[in-house]
Formats: sequence, structure tokens, C-alpha cells
Amino acid sequence: MEWVKNFYDKQFRLYEEGLTGPNEEHEEILTKIENLASKPFQSILELGAGGGEFAITAAKKGYDVTAVELVPSRIDYMKKLKSEHHLIGDLEIIEGDFYKVELSKTFDVICYIDGFGIGEDQDQQTLLNRMSKWLKPDGCILIDIYTPWYWVSVSGQEMRIGSKLRNYDFDFWGCRMLDTWFDGEEKVTQSLRCYSPPDLNMLLKDTGLTLVDIKSGGAMIYTTGEYHENVDLGEAMSYMVKLVLNY
Ligand SMILES: C[S@@+](CC[C@H](N)C(=O)[O-])C[C@H]1O[C@@H](n2cnc3c(N)ncnc32)[C@H](O)[C@@H]1O
Repeated sequence: MEWVKNFYDKQFRLYEEGLTGPNEEHEEILTKIENLASKPFQSILELGAGGGEFAITAAKKGYDVTAVELVPSRIDYMKKLKSEHHLIGDLEIIEGDFYKVELSKTFDVICYIDGFGIGEDQDQQTLLNRMSKWLKPDGCILIDIYTPWYWVSVSGQEMRIGSKLRNYDFDFWGCRMLDTWFDGEEKVTQSLRCYSPPDLNMLLKDTGLTLVDIKSGGAMIYTTGEYHENVDLGEAMSYMVKLVLNY
């Protein structure tokens, strides 16, 4: 998992100039989370919170959010956003590794938006076990999971972002999407394990968690350059799962 800090720092710096803070997209994510949670809640733990756009959106609406993020440049941006927005709920920003961080509270909702699948299956199980300890008994965990079929379908796709080249590949033996950014001589790759719903169910074994709902995500169609927000699971880049504690 050595690539993680370097990749997410570099990716953030590539996009940094164009960042405009929370927007409609983050409000839609919040609505999706509220719908999937299917009952009122107050506290949110967000893992891998990135630049904090979702955390800010939720705190502006009155939720108490704890945001955990590994990369200092993203933490700095989140702190800047926090100082610029009027928040109704609390926002606690924790710079740390979600595999190591100690949290003294439990939460109604734990979410990990985009980025699940770093490391091996055992690493995901370790993280899921940690999440189950941070969850209130009647709370839920909501995680974006990448689908193997979408990432196979876009393997070989190349894009130019400013002066940088980006390409997608697929590791069939590890069932992983590979997202590589080329910047002159340097290249950095994000490698995320993709899970079908039955694969995910196998991963949940011995974690004390049960999969109770799925909401299909969107898809970028490279032939037309359009992003489709709600597509069938069979075409989606990812889907959000709802996990609850076993009884
Ligand atoms: C794909 S990005 C998604 C960021 C944000 N959730 C969003 O949707 O914009 C994944 C994020 O997880 C963070 N991350 C990865 N591993 C982490 C770890 N072990 N502990 C905390 N954060 C981590 C990365 O630094 C990155 O900001």
C-alpha cells in the first residue's frame, strides 16, 4: 500500500487549481446517504475524506462529522474550507491513517465515498472490522464499491488532463482497476480491488457485518464524453452498499 500517500497527494495537486469546494454533486451524495440510511441520524464518520467537500456539505446541513484523511495537502484544503463555510453541525478533522487511528466515539453513519479497495482482501477485512467497532448498534456503513465489469470495459482508455496523461488498465489476476497518471518522467498508479456483490458478501464473512442494500452509481461513457448519473448495476462504475451489524 506504499503508493497510497504519494498517489493521492499528486492527484490532489493536479486538480488543486480548479477546485471550487462543495457543490451540487456533494449534496446529491448526501441525499443518497440519507435515503440509504432510511432513518434520521446525527453523527457521521467519513473515512478517506479527501479535500472535505462532502464533510463540509454534511456539517452545513447540521450533521456532526468526523473526517479522517491521510494526506496533509488534502487536510490543509479541508481546514481552509472549514474556515470559509458556516457550519451548523461540528466538523472534527483528523489527519491520520484509518488503519491506525484511535477513535473514542461511535457513529450513526460511517461512510467511505470513492476509494475502497486499496490493498488486499485481508486489508479490506481489517478496515471493515475497525468500522464495525466504530458503529452504533443501530447505525449503518455506506461504502462505494468499484464494479469489475465497468473497469474491464474502460481498460486501455486514455485521457489528457491539462498537460498530464491518464490511462486506465485492468489487472485480471487481482481483479483491480489501475489508474495511472503520467507527468513527464514520473508516473503514479492507483490500484483498487473491484468487487461484485457476491464477492463482497464473501469479504464480509467474519466481519460481523451484513449487506442489506445496494444503490447503483453512474458511468462515464467515453465514446460520447457524457457522464450518466443513474445507470443499471450492470453498467455502473460503482455501487454504494449499506452494511449493518449482524444481530
Ligand atoms: C479516491 S479519494 C476520494 C476522496 C473523497 N472521499 C472524494 O470522494 O472526493 C480516496 C481518499 O482516501 C484517502 N485515504 C487512502 N488511504 C487512507 C488511509 N489509510 N487513511 C485515511 N485516508 C486514506 C486518500 O488520501 C484520498 O483522499
